[in-house]
Amino acid sequence: MDDRMVDQSLHDDESNFELSLRPTKLRQYIGQSTIKSNLEVFIKAAKMRQEPLDHVLLFGPPGLGKTTLSNIIANEMEVNMRTITGPSIERPGDLAAILSGLQPGDVLFIDEIHRLSSVVEEVLYSAMEDFFLDIVIGKGEEARSIRIDLPPFTLIGATTRSGSLSAPLRDRFGVHLRLEYYKEQDLKEIILRTAEVLGTQIDDESASELAKRSRGTPRVANRLLKRVRDFQQVEDDDYIKIRTTKRSLELLQIDDEGLDYIDHKMMNCILKQYNGGPVGLDTIAVSIGEERVTIEDVYEPFLIQKGFLERTPRGRKATAYAFEHFNMHGERE
Ligand code: ADE
Repeated sequence: MDDRMVDQSLHDDESNFELSLRPTKLRQYIGQSTIKSNLEVFIKAAKMRQEPLDHVLLFGPPGLGKTTLSNIIANEMEVNMRTITGPSIERPGDLAAILSGLQPGDVLFIDEIHRLSSVVEEVLYSAMEDFFLDIVIGKGEEARSIRIDLPPFTLIGATTRSGSLSAPLRDRFGVHLRLEYYKEQDLKEIILRTAEVLGTQIDDESASELAKRSRGTPRVANRLLKRVRDFQQVEDDDYIKIRTTKRSLELLQIDDEGLDYIDHKMMNCILKQYNGGPVGLDTIAVSIGEERVTIEDVYEPFLIQKGFLERTPRGRKATAYAFEHFNMHGERE
């Protein structure tokens, strides 16, 4: 996949930038109000009982703040957080080393938890439920199982695909939180907060315009803000004005709804080549030269949420709204 401006996944050079912009306390976190108010109660109650927080599962498309929320939870619980990704733990021994290195109450954050191998997932069950691991050491006749007691800990699992998690693993999380795309008003507030952190001034209209085109995703909002700031800086304006904002977005090929050239390519394929569908996902993947999983996890959720696309049993179908939007804007390449 290209490095799209509106790509929700984290680009290689962005992790430091994101870290410095992230809120560290629940009260600084903008949006996702239901999640926030629930978490506030769960954290308070766990602290009153002097117990670790129950295990938390975070679902949602990339870029909505799963890692940020996890950091906030650890911070509010006043414990340390260790971060790993599902595919990086190859053997049960790797997991044993990580878990036995935690302090009581610490958070272990496993990103992409749906990609854990099944052997690792199985040893995780007893760790989550009763804080011990059964590890088999040796081979053949020499093989024996040893029990490792663990400090009590909180597992926070993050996944973009709720359907890919096995039921036994899902059921061992006491708290399930589904992150939603952000409302425009919340994104605007995030943009204003980020501008302040960056020491940049932006007018109200520009912040609204960026919020409208950020695909409901703070990561995209912050990235667009950074790029528009580049234009402002080069033009030597003292703050980000709407004229610069609109022109920058045009040069970045991001339309009024936040769709970029890849969205246009995909929608044009369905609308023009296949008369609006229904057309199978594999056919679309071949036609636009993208991986099936990328389309499913990254492009489609937003197009569906915006009402451009529908999933039907016979394939993907463009909506009446998509016909209207794309005729209005003409063809782009
Ligand atoms: N930066 C990125 N996401 C944020 C959020 N939800 N609240 C405040 N700042 C953010």
